Amino acid sequence: MPKLCVNVDHVATIRQARGTNEPDPVAAALIAERAGAIGITIHLREDRRHIQDRDLRLIRQVVRGKLNLEMAPVEEMRGIALDTRPDQVTLVPERREEITTEGGLDASGQMDRLAAIIVPIQEAKILVSLFIDPEQHQIEAAHRLGADYIELNTAAYSEARNPEAAGREISALKKAAEQAHALGLGVHAGHGLTFLNVEPITSLPHIEELNIGHSIVSQAVFTGFEAAVGEMARLVEGRS
Ligand code: PXP
Repeated sequence: MPKLCVNVDHVATIRQARGTNEPDPVAAALIAERAGAIGITIHLREDRRHIQDRDLRLIRQVVRGKLNLEMAPVEEMRGIALDTRPDQVTLVPERREEITTEGGLDASGQMDRLAAIIVPIQEAKILVSLFIDPEQHQIEAAHRLGADYIELNTAAYSEARNPEAAGREISALKKAAEQAHALGLGVHAGHGLTFLNVEPITSLPHIEELNIGHSIVSQAVFTGFEAAVGEMARLVEGRS
């Protein structure tokens, strides 16, 4: 069975919507670890729309498990990774107009560009994972690039509109996980996984870690809402 890594970007998204200092993704990272996450994932985007450089610095200091830094394969991010030394870097494609990461990295189409990012990061003893779609040529490219892991993009599975389509995506993910494992790559998966759709993914072979964020934060809004309103009502009305 895989282990859970929690993506706390979405906590930072709420903070940035107000430009204030709460909720703090650093606190979320600590709570996630205490609750059983084996790792924390953050995406430092080039436009800094959610996670800030300060978050990365502080989360690097406080996280005890694995810190997985998602980033675009660009020079600026390579420098930041080498300075802050996360345990793992996951390379993801990035487009400024997108709401969230759309599609996996085209590893086979940009081997030289990726090698220039991957080699120095691995030389610094930081693990490298490539976020890719479950496609044979992308897995082969990840292997040729010497990546330690791939993260299989589960977006197509999570967007499937009926059981047949979901079944097809599960088959593709299974085949991809088996191919990657046979090539010696570690396998992670994530994107769009929810409380309703995660279970079939946990039964796939060779998947060591799942990265999940949005659905956990969405659920937390409701599981925490009653207690938060109650606490504020007591304060407002001067009750203890
Ligand atoms: N993996 C990658 C590469 C991502 O970009 C994201 C989204 O930030 C996730 C996993 C987590 O996806 P979600 O927030 O939909 O659970």
